[in-house]
Amino acid sequence: MPQLSLSWLGLGPWAASPWQLLLLAGASWFLARSLTKIYTFYDNCYRLRCFPQPPRRNWFWGHLGLAKWQRLISEGSARLDMFEHISLMTLDSLQKCVFSFDSNCQEQPSEYIAAILELSALVTKRHHQIFLYWDFLYYLTPDGRRFRRACDLVHDFTDAVIQERRCTLAAQDVDDFLKAKAKSKTVDFIDLLLLSKDENGKKLSDEDIRAEADTFMFGGHDTTASGLSWALYNLARHPEYQERCRKEVQDLLSNRDPKEIEWDDLAQLPFLTMCIKESLRLHPPVTIISRCCTRDVALPDGRVIPKGNVCAISIFGIHHNPSVWPDPEVYDPSRFDPESPQKRSPLAFIPFSAGPRNCIGQTFAMSEMKVVLALTLLRFRVLPDDTEPRRKPELILRAEGGLWLRLEPLSAGAE
Ligand code: HEM
Repeated sequence: MPQLSLSWLGLGPWAASPWQLLLLAGASWFLARSLTKIYTFYDNCYRLRCFPQPPRRNWFWGHLGLAKWQRLISEGSARLDMFEHISLMTLDSLQKCVFSFDSNCQEQPSEYIAAILELSALVTKRHHQIFLYWDFLYYLTPDGRRFRRACDLVHDFTDAVIQERRCTLAAQDVDDFLKAKAKSKTVDFIDLLLLSKDENGKKLSDEDIRAEADTFMFGGHDTTASGLSWALYNLARHPEYQERCRKEVQDLLSNRDPKEIEWDDLAQLPFLTMCIKESLRLHPPVTIISRCCTRDVALPDGRVIPKGNVCAISIFGIHHNPSVWPDPEVYDPSRFDPESPQKRSPLAFIPFSAGPRNCIGQTFAMSEMKVVLALTLLRFRVLPDDTEPRRKPELILRAEGGLWLRLEPLSAGAE
């Protein structure tokens, strides 16, 4: 009997890689964790430092797509579906950080990005078709064939980057290569994977590298896009909080020209951080996760969940529990005020899950969300649309028919 859990995504060796995000098991999971530690180290030293502060001026501005928003607004379309635009933006910036590749996908069609979006849509669709959980049946369907084609395209892209990088590395001393990359602030995830070794000193195979890189691409784009879209929605619904965030950013950047966010600024935006957290509580991008009990689990009321059972854990439910969160439907950033810490369990707020399998990319995601919101609020006023969106939980939390908001450019003086 196929299980209604994410395990059905184990699609067989050659189709599975992009979906290992959701099922990185055993060795691969351990590897990904170790790599993330290395990555985080390099991240802090090199890549993320250059993420909001790139070597080429306005790199991040370009990857944010805000220039596009400004153009669309000047052309008169001030009403935008946030999911559509922000998903392209998160894919664009991830492609840059993982592969150092400029797809320019926000301005022109990109085959690779289209394939990732198609795979995400196909996985969601398949989730609702229980008979298609069997790979054998699925690959006989038109969707199954489209899935394979899109998988091939994504794999080919990653393989080509890996091969090109291997050639560069073969022609250069590793130390020189790293020094040059560090100097130009262009160390990316592929570099780290190529240079990484396991505990026995063995380098990663091309397949391992591909799986890890694809995992980051899939795990990082939709989730962050959902987090950002709902954060903008909540700020649009609460102009007083939006204005306070804008003021915080303006004060921070008041003596700077151009007004660009730098790495150290991210710790100087306490109210914006509170607003992001409250939005992740009210609209968690991942609403549900599952865990298999590796031992009997005793509940407070004496009942026991036997070992071997798969449990669905509702992040959405935990975040809306009225005994922990009074008036749970109210958007109130002060719940996360570090000045008046609440007596809550650390497990009352788990947008990135918890425990050993929590989100690898949470620091990256929080940084990206702060930069995007800060730079957006500096340039635009965000207003709610006429119709109230309805939450639509799929693999991530979406809104039925898209999440539409209106944008107004701020006057030069306000900036
Ligand atoms: C707001 C943004 C994000 C949210 C809310 C989020 C949420 C989550 C959650 C809840 C899990 C746990 C899934 C489970 O327990 O079954 C998870 C896992 C994961 N996330 Fe994220 N995520 C975000 C952004 C990112 C980014 C930007 C990346 C990569 C660049 C990433 C990579 C991963 C990976 C690789 C895993 C699997 C970890 C493992 O199984 O050990 N995520 N994420």
